[in-house]
Amino acid sequence: MTKQGMTPEQAAQLSLAEQHEWFRRATSRRAMLRGGLVGAGTAIAGTAIASAAGLTGTASAAPVRSAASLLPTADRPNGSTVVPFGRHISYGADPTRQMSVAWQATAAVRNPFVRIGRSPQDLGEKHHAEVRALSTLASDTSPIDSVALVSPSTIEQYYLHAALDGLRPGETYYYAVGHDGWDPGSNLAVVKSFTTAPSKRGPFTFTAFGDQGISYDAVATTHLIAGQHPAFHLHAGDVSYAEGTGHGLITDSYDPKVWDSFFQQVEAVAATVPWQVASGNHEMEPWYSPDGNGGLAARFDFAGQQNTYYSFTYGNVGVITLDANDVSYEIPANNGYSGGKQTAWLEQELAALRKRADIDFIVVQFHHCAYSTCSSHASEGGVRQYWVPLFDSYGVDLVINGHNHVYERTDPLKGGSVTTAAPSGSTVTPATQGTTYVVAGGAGNSLYSFPAKDSYDGAVDDVSPIASFVNEPGRTKTPETVAWSRVRYTGYCLLAIDSAPARHGGTSKLTVRAIDGFGAEIDRVVLTRTAK
Ligand SMILES: [Fe+2]
Ligand SMILES: [Fe+2]
Repeated sequence: MTKQGMTPEQAAQLSLAEQHEWFRRATSRRAMLRGGLVGAGTAIAGTAIASAAGLTGTASAAPVRSAASLLPTADRPNGSTVVPFGRHISYGADPTRQMSVAWQATAAVRNPFVRIGRSPQDLGEKHHAEVRALSTLASDTSPIDSVALVSPSTIEQYYLHAALDGLRPGETYYYAVGHDGWDPGSNLAVVKSFTTAPSKRGPFTFTAFGDQGISYDAVATTHLIAGQHPAFHLHAGDVSYAEGTGHGLITDSYDPKVWDSFFQQVEAVAATVPWQVASGNHEMEPWYSPDGNGGLAARFDFAGQQNTYYSFTYGNVGVITLDANDVSYEIPANNGYSGGKQTAWLEQELAALRKRADIDFIVVQFHHCAYSTCSSHASEGGVRQYWVPLFDSYGVDLVINGHNHVYERTDPLKGGSVTTAAPSGSTVTPATQGTTYVVAGGAGNSLYSFPAKDSYDGAVDDVSPIASFVNEPGRTKTPETVAWSRVRYTGYCLLAIDSAPARHGGTSKLTVRAIDGFGAEIDRVVLTRTAK
């Protein structure tokens, strides 16, 4: 794909904000050429359109069409013909009392709502949902269908979000979603449930992976999540691959309707297990906002916070999600977009979590790898430069990454150096031995490879040192020889992490299990923290 008036060299240099501005201006030009008026209240396809005030990336500078104008009365389809799909839930700022229920509709609907209740037969409590709609010019997309989309000229996507508050801790609620013309009532066929976080410490499991996409392998790993009965699921980015190229360039391919397939694929799990997503390089979508995150913000919720970097706590675990596009040297289109705010926020969050007596473990997830030997992307120097020193200072216990489509775990590290060898089955004390880094990028997209042999539980083949590289400024790949790669597995995978808090002082455990695409365990390490 070429862009009018732009050399390939220029196209390769544009930041996300500059790409957004190009699309915005191009859209205006095309509208003018068609003789359309561009002004207040006029719908402009290809720009950010979201009714959620204050969300990341829905900048006021972009022409914003109100939700109301997305609901024309003349051509609005009868609501009874529009069936909600792609339900996915996530926590609010307080997981003990708040939950966000989100879903999609294939057409504009009126008065979307969620019904909830304590029994599947009684969904009498009705809550309004907001519309977050995205409009994308078909001419700005690269449809994966072999026949190009000719009509309509824009692709409209309608995401509905209901923010539930005042829930009881540790309680299971039942829900169903609808809109004018489609009221599910208590039709058990469409009723789902969720459970809020408990107010007291207790054992629980959560899962994590990255780099999913839509494929039969992704279906398999998605359903393996359900088999672990997790309280919540972390997604370390590269979610749907609707943005298919992932280079952060204006010439990248994009088919927004891939998201429709994605939500349909994950609904069986994501409708009942809160999904907390991180932004990967394939989530940089310049069509909707200057920071490229407007699409993600329309489709997901970030634990009641306004950025793609956010945090929440569940029991004795603090979870921080970061947006590593902000610090990436490998794919620098959004490098520095937060102006340093994210890293400053990270330090505040880490300091606050470490001060809390009720929080034992700090888990941080983001997309680009701090430490990986995988041949494709290896390690991200920006993460090491800006964030690893903070992980060391505040004793982060576990870092979860994606980006490299493999499984890999390091020995515990301090300052980038191994403190102790930790083969599968080991117990690690992060307070003295440092942070364990895990890559779990085998959720379903095509797999990558390692320069060294695989080595995992049942097939240990220690290789050290390993020749790898780290991405540094100027898109430089600096060779390095590393000794921290303890477990490597080329295959589909997910993490299941069991938290077992100590009841009266004593030692709390966080057992990190890696599971392959067939459900077999391939790695295990136990992190321990003794009461403060
Ligand atoms: Fe990926
Ligand atoms: Fe990636």
